[in-house]
Amino acid sequence: MNSVHLAASCAVWLAIGSTALAAPYLDRSLSIEQRVDELLSRLTLEEKVSLLHANSKFTVPGIPRLGIPERWLDDGPFGVREDIGPHEWKNAGRTDDFSTAMPAGIALASTWDPDLAVEEGRAIGEEAVHRNKHMMLGPAINIMRTPVCGRNFEYFGEDPFLCARLAVGYIRGMQTQDVAGCVKHYAVNNQEWERLTTDTQVDERTLREIYLPGFRAAVQEGGVWAVMAAYNRFRGQFCCHNDYLLNQVLKKEWGFRGLVVSDWGGVHDTSEAALHGLDLEMGTEEGRSYEEYYLARDYLAGLKSGAFPSAGLDEKVRRNLRVMFATGLIDGRRPGSFNTPAHQEIARRVAEEGMVLLKNEGRALPLDASSLRSIAIIGENATRLQANGGGSAIIKPLYEISPLEGILRRVGSEVTITHAAGYRTAPSDKPQPTAAELTQLADRAVAAARAADVVVFVGGLNHDRGLDCEGVDRADLSLPAGQSTLIQRLAAANPRLVVVLVAGAPVEMGEWLQQVPAVLMAWYGGMEAGNAVARLLFGDVSPSGKLPCTFPKRLADSPAHALGTYPGKDGVVRYDEGLLVGYRWFDTREIAPEFPFGHGLSYSRFEYSNLCLSSAADGCGAVVTFDLANTGAVEAAEIAQVYVCDPQSSLPRPAQELKGFAKVRLAPGAKQTISVALGADAFAFYDPAQKAWIAEAGAFAIRVGSSSRDVRLEGGFHLTQTATLP
Ligand code: BGC
Repeated sequence: MNSVHLAASCAVWLAIGSTALAAPYLDRSLSIEQRVDELLSRLTLEEKVSLLHANSKFTVPGIPRLGIPERWLDDGPFGVREDIGPHEWKNAGRTDDFSTAMPAGIALASTWDPDLAVEEGRAIGEEAVHRNKHMMLGPAINIMRTPVCGRNFEYFGEDPFLCARLAVGYIRGMQTQDVAGCVKHYAVNNQEWERLTTDTQVDERTLREIYLPGFRAAVQEGGVWAVMAAYNRFRGQFCCHNDYLLNQVLKKEWGFRGLVVSDWGGVHDTSEAALHGLDLEMGTEEGRSYEEYYLARDYLAGLKSGAFPSAGLDEKVRRNLRVMFATGLIDGRRPGSFNTPAHQEIARRVAEEGMVLLKNEGRALPLDASSLRSIAIIGENATRLQANGGGSAIIKPLYEISPLEGILRRVGSEVTITHAAGYRTAPSDKPQPTAAELTQLADRAVAAARAADVVVFVGGLNHDRGLDCEGVDRADLSLPAGQSTLIQRLAAANPRLVVVLVAGAPVEMGEWLQQVPAVLMAWYGGMEAGNAVARLLFGDVSPSGKLPCTFPKRLADSPAHALGTYPGKDGVVRYDEGLLVGYRWFDTREIAPEFPFGHGLSYSRFEYSNLCLSSAADGCGAVVTFDLANTGAVEAAEIAQVYVCDPQSSLPRPAQELKGFAKVRLAPGAKQTISVALGADAFAFYDPAQKAWIAEAGAFAIRVGSSSRDVRLEGGFHLTQTATLP
């Protein structure tokens, strides 16, 4: 593929001849802005418009006479998707597009490791270059407003601070490879139910504090080159041509200089698309020719008639050209790499560090292979491959290690492994298993469980429609196909039962949790999932993942469901819970979750001590210092979390908010002093009246802990100066 790509671009260079080679826009010693201006001046009106819309499912035309090749975009976000199209939603049938499949976004979020996000972003960037993609459609960072959203598995959970840290890391890593990241879906696209039309009504403060911080950080800290506008409406106007979101906030306020691309098929109107900040139109409904796209023939006609200003066109083209230069489209790129052992290693590390040990009573885990004769592995997800599912985030992986395979590889030569499916799921449009079939499957599994020393149940959800899948939300938080009953039967048959859940979002566990000593949340672990599961179960590595979202006891406890504001009414969703999303709701309303935000156990123990809170040197923030010691017997990483509480404020605030964290790996017996800086922004709320962030002078409480509800240290801090931040 590489050599083909290089050969193709050489051909382009030769074809453009000596005059074009001398053109200033080809001069790499000039700045990108100079080159953009120069190239812009050479384009005809028609050529300019041609750069603003697709010419296949994932490409945008080039301008051959100027040596500008076609641009390639691709999904995203867990690897480089197989080639699609060109003109239909079906795979292109290539055999060279099996790629590295990273774990789902929720798993990356559970690592709480922005450096690992950099590594993942870089690895995907390298694969994108190899596959000749210039823009990857990720990261996907919509906040988990409801646990039933079908795309929660793609996103980074419920907290804007954590989400922002990971997004910035991922983007920075990816863009080192001359591949544009494309953060999506901007904005308030928090449910799949009627996602194409829903009108989201959210107050300004909530918008700023909960739903926009990830995007803002992606732009201002990550330097992301592209933003994908969402399908839904926001305050009545489609996000793909929403003047407030795109022109006012993203471009004017935040200074975004890259391009806004529509979600596929998210454009509905030429005039709004022309005037409200869209720069690139993709995926408009099938059946339309590319010339019939909203930013094609009709836009051109409007420009010619004077209905649309030419300055607006130049602005859009400039943004496209900037990204084209930044991604080496015109200069050529380094070779990239594909499916390397290093990439596979990153996939395994993300899987391993993202899995969350939810419960471990009586040290049920880790398992000691040398003292076991037999293990019964039960469950459909023990063998089911997951990477190639879920909607646009599907990956055609080079390989995928299932949990059963991972366990067999790890202990198969020492321990007798039996497997029984125990249950069977079926997509909602296929015949469902009958009660008799489920009973028979369960009976066999219970018999296998009874005969084994230890039982590992690997269940949860999958990417079938109606579960963790784009385009549709879950109906509830239950485990499908009678798993809840099955787990209880397994627990009765053999108390040494470990439950491994493969899912991309919270599930209800109340019916069986008390009967099970150990639960590992494995998420979707990508191509190395099974190896990661095995390494954690057998203690090769200690679990270190922490939940990036609250697991409620029941769906009705979650804010949007408690208030009845999901899925909305008459096409409108009102975010009446305001700021109280996720743990902000549970903590402020004092509702006990099943597992709180930030929760995750280890095979070791950590002691926190010596909290010291001092003013930052500039007086506009705090420095939080404490000691962290590994007092257990194994090396392990702890994610120490810093929450800020503002008991007296001129505007009401959630009970506590995450504003810092540190992931620290310690050998047994080791101790380290940790320092977390809290800038003025960590104390600020958004005041819609002043259109600014305000850090009010006064008393705050700072909590340091192992989860949002496992606070180990707490101290008071006095912010001496009020600060107003943009
Ligand atoms: C999804 C996007 C995706 C695009 C292209 C849309 O349906 O919402 O996330 O990038 O398709 O596949």
